[in-house]
Amino acid sequence: MTELLTPIDQAKYAAAHCAADFVKDGMRVGLGTGSTAAWLVRRLGQRVRAEGLRIIAVPTSARTAALGREVGLNIVTLEEARWLDLTIDGADEFDAELALIKGGGGALLHEKIVATASDQMIVITDAAKEVKHLGAFPLPVEVIPFGWQATKALVEEILAAVDVLGRKSTLRMNGANPYVTDEGNYILDLALGRIGNPQQLSLVLNQVPGVVENGLFVDIADQVVIGHADGKCELRDLTSGAPETSFAQVDLDAAQNIFRDL
Ligand code: A5P
Repeated sequence: MTELLTPIDQAKYAAAHCAADFVKDGMRVGLGTGSTAAWLVRRLGQRVRAEGLRIIAVPTSARTAALGREVGLNIVTLEEARWLDLTIDGADEFDAELALIKGGGGALLHEKIVATASDQMIVITDAAKEVKHLGAFPLPVEVIPFGWQATKALVEEILAAVDVLGRKSTLRMNGANPYVTDEGNYILDLALGRIGNPQQLSLVLNQVPGVVENGLFVDIADQVVIGHADGKCELRDLTSGAPETSFAQVDLDAAQNIFRDL
């Protein structure tokens, strides 16, 4: 079965599988969006069926909600759950302080609300997403459709005053039409090259009236699980300030059961 998975999928599976072990009976869990988070959702479904794990889960997108229901998770809204013990989500880039760029999958607004309404956030990722400085991945910024061109111009103007290399922004498209988020908004992708001060940039972007939220997650995550294609996963924990690192090994052959069980 594992020969059907690409090395990158094996790495994502390993990260998701290791992180799923942090989910305990009775927890309220935030579920991220994207291909790595989808492995997590499948793994949690497997644990619910095999172990009788009882959790309630809050999805960060319609896609994740649909998958969660499909695999047998008890999906509720954030309004129903109110607060979460743990959120596990992917990322597009992460640095040594666990500042993140998220939103490549378009779900950054719900992802940020859910992550900040959680006692703990764990990032699940493959090693290729680790960077010295954020910014090579275009930064997604969710904007309301009304006056989006004016918002775009203002965003590009303020970029001149912050420590970034590039200033060009592009409206994300879905075929011939603008991409529309679960909240009915648009996304601008900012080609910044390098972000010198993610916290400052996040604050100034959110000052622009048409901006709803940006994809920088600063001081939200304090643990990352990095998966590798051989099934190894590395947990880096920054909860106590200095990083503490531990390793685990995932049986990649077990990946087939996730599909066989469904
Ligand atoms: C979704 O909006 C994003 O924040 C994802 O978490 C991010 O794009 C990672 O996606 P993959 O796990 O598919 O790489």
